[in-house]
Amino acid sequence: MNSSAIAVSGLRKAYGDKAVLDGIDFEVPAGTVFSLLGPNGAGKTTTANVLTTLTAADGGTARVAGHDLATEARAVRAAIGVTGQFAAVDDLLTGQENLRLMVDLQRGRVDERVVTELLERFELADSAHQPASTYSGGMRRKLDLAMTLVGDPRVIFLDEPTTGLDPRSRRTMWSIIRDLVAEGVTIFLTTQYLEEADQLADRVAVLDQGRLVAQGTPDELKRRLPGTHVRLRFATAADLDAAARLFADGTRDDEALALRVPGDGATRSLRALLDRLDAHSLDAEELSVHTPDLDDVFLALTGRTAEAAK
Ligand SMILES: Nc1ncnc2c1ncn2[C@@H]1O[C@H](COP(=O)(O)OP(=O)(O)OP(=O)(O)O)[C@@H](O)[C@H]1O
Ligand SMILES: [Mg+2]
Repeated sequence: MNSSAIAVSGLRKAYGDKAVLDGIDFEVPAGTVFSLLGPNGAGKTTTANVLTTLTAADGGTARVAGHDLATEARAVRAAIGVTGQFAAVDDLLTGQENLRLMVDLQRGRVDERVVTELLERFELADSAHQPASTYSGGMRRKLDLAMTLVGDPRVIFLDEPTTGLDPRSRRTMWSIIRDLVAEGVTIFLTTQYLEEADQLADRVAVLDQGRLVAQGTPDELKRRLPGTHVRLRFATAADLDAAARLFADGTRDDEALALRVPGDGATRSLRALLDRLDAHSLDAEELSVHTPDLDDVFLALTGRTAEAAK
């Protein structure tokens, strides 16, 4: 029994005397998206390279798609897809020819339906007959992922899959990733865009100088930061006054008849807050939970903004 698509324990990697991965542990359940975040040089690509067998680890263990990385590297390679690495786009061939070649290699014959479907799915049908050398960075990235999918990988490693893509192409990529996950595929994703992690990832881990400094769901991470608060809006100034007396740590916004109450936004504390209002026969017109976004989390954990880390 093992429902983890990726299980990493005590993973270490050094270049010379510089520890790039200093003992990292994480697990990725099958059929979920795991996003590794961290500033430049944190070790994200190194982690991906180790897990895809491109680089050997110096210590620790890892299982990918049920296979031990150290002793079953070939089985790991057969089960995974890596964009930007194995799926080498041939510049001299057109997009269509690249895909045909990949389908032929993987399946032993060219299935034109598969080729056409992939070209359409990745919005490459219009440029299918142009050489890949004429493709933009974004088109190349899409062709790369399309070629990766030909092998029906169960675990896919995407190192910054949408860097440099325009917003529309980024959304196409996101929807393709969501479809893959719906089919049961597991995604390991690194990204510079914290919104992307927030949108796609079931779990996020923040890597800083070779160590994981936090992991959890995007919401869990955001809730850990100070600044999370519940905003209560009242119908009358009298209600606001009463509530402000009740929650001495709250901050008033008299103009909006609102009170900001610090809290973690978890259901348990929300219930306690509502019970307290109830006990004093106070009704809020509106209740909303405000949580910091992943950019705030990133800054708090690494001391750098995601923008500055680029
Ligand atoms: N082949 C190598 N030889 C020596 N040092 C390396 C090698 N590859 C990576 N490093 C070092 O390991 C550290 C981590 O690099 P890595 O590429 O994993 O970071 P990253 O988190 O992917 O960064 P980025 O956000 O810039 O892509 C860096 O300090 C880098 O200089
Ligand atoms: Mg990198």
